[in-house]
Amino acid sequence: MLPLVTSTELPTTTIGGLKAHVGETVTLSAWLTDKSGKGKIQFLKLRDGTGFVQATVFKNDVPEEVFEAAKRLTQEQALTLVGEVRADERAPGGVELAVRDLSPISENRGEYPITPKEHGIEFLLDQRHLWLRHRRPWAVVRVRDSVQRAVIDFFHGEGFVRFDAPFFTPNAAEGTTELFEIDLFGEDKAYLSQTGQLHAEAGALAFGKVYTFGPTFRAEKSKTRRHLLEFWMVEPEVAPSTHAENMALQERLVSFIVRRVLEECSEELALLGRDVEKLRGAAEGNYPRVTYTEALEIVQRHIEDGDLPDNVQADVQPVEWGDDLGAPHETILGHHFDRPVMIEKYPAAIKAFYMQPDPEDERLALCDDMIAPEGYGEIIGGSQRIHDYDLLRSRIEHEGLPLEAFDWYLDLRRYGSVPHAGFGMGLERVIAWITGIDHIREAIPFPRMLTRMTP
Ligand code: 4AD
Ligand code: MG
Repeated sequence: MLPLVTSTELPTTTIGGLKAHVGETVTLSAWLTDKSGKGKIQFLKLRDGTGFVQATVFKNDVPEEVFEAAKRLTQEQALTLVGEVRADERAPGGVELAVRDLSPISENRGEYPITPKEHGIEFLLDQRHLWLRHRRPWAVVRVRDSVQRAVIDFFHGEGFVRFDAPFFTPNAAEGTTELFEIDLFGEDKAYLSQTGQLHAEAGALAFGKVYTFGPTFRAEKSKTRRHLLEFWMVEPEVAPSTHAENMALQERLVSFIVRRVLEECSEELALLGRDVEKLRGAAEGNYPRVTYTEALEIVQRHIEDGDLPDNVQADVQPVEWGDDLGAPHETILGHHFDRPVMIEKYPAAIKAFYMQPDPEDERLALCDDMIAPEGYGEIIGGSQRIHDYDLLRSRIEHEGLPLEAFDWYLDLRRYGSVPHAGFGMGLERVIAWITGIDHIREAIPFPRMLTRMTP
């Protein structure tokens, strides 16, 4: 290991912090992403996680061995350097570094696999542990961080208690087909949780307003742009509460998140080439609410008029009343509005057993899905929950679910039952939409899919 450049008098900073030091000489640790130059000059492209900057090494400004060390640097080598910070309007972060001294921190063993040329997505996903260092993942993961903090700040600001649901659960909550089964020492079985909702309901009756925020597991064999086997979900639950209040909460949450990302992540969104004008409506609020039945009519009209978004096939079929909306229908609806839309009151028969029936039409559930614009599909699913003991019990039996496993859940209706409501927001789907990436596998550091478990 070579000695570090050390200078006790110089301020140590990060690339993100350089702007505050224009005109000063600073020290900094970074990694080399790319290098160019010839003769008497070397251009070093650097990153350190907080940002990206170009550093220039002039042969005449530095001792011979420093210039030689700069020439020998290889891609992704770690180094420490001393440089003068110069304002440069054309540079991405508004600054450049004029190098005075530098020294590698370590030597790389062999050639770094991700070269500056174009690589295919499967190769990049195989190299995800290294690819995370590059610009696009850098931007997306930082937006993810911003969204996660926005979620926490939003719920804290609204007086919610963060409430952790278990990942091992004894039963299904959203249909039995998508459960990962766990063998409990050969004696018994448990499942990986596909939702924290049922436990969040216990939390809501104990604390009033709670939210869970963590990984969720679904054994979905679908290889779509919108499905992961492991994804993160935010699940608020409020008691007492109604379907209407639940939708208002969804709108406040999503618009808060979009405003926060627009404020905090302009550099990341610009790097991703995101057209932020398309997010303005979502940041404002006033999300339209249409019933399932009205949504079918909107879809039907678009099909009849041949007014379809690019990524919807011309032979798309309309939805029959009683069927669920498919991805192309959600895409059509997403394009019809300039901001997220809430589709409410689906037929109860195609929704989960715990949803409160609509008092005006018992065939419908007091539920809604929020559909993101631009073809990103469903980002939220939520409902008012059945609070009547007898009705819930009969629904559990009707679904063929084991009553014993739901006895604790029925206790929530035996003692102090009130109308209550909540929803689940898929974190990766929200991130994919806000960043404008076309597949949610890039919205999480290490995606888990049918076709990918590594690295
Ligand atoms: O609509 P879902 O299935 O709703 C529930 O699980 C409710 N129990 C939530 C609640 O009311 N507390 O899932 C909620 C959201 C979806 O709208 C979607 O955004 C996301 O979770 N989601 C997925 N995201 C990525 N990959 C998957 N396989 C997903 N499945 C659902
Ligand atoms: Mg859903």
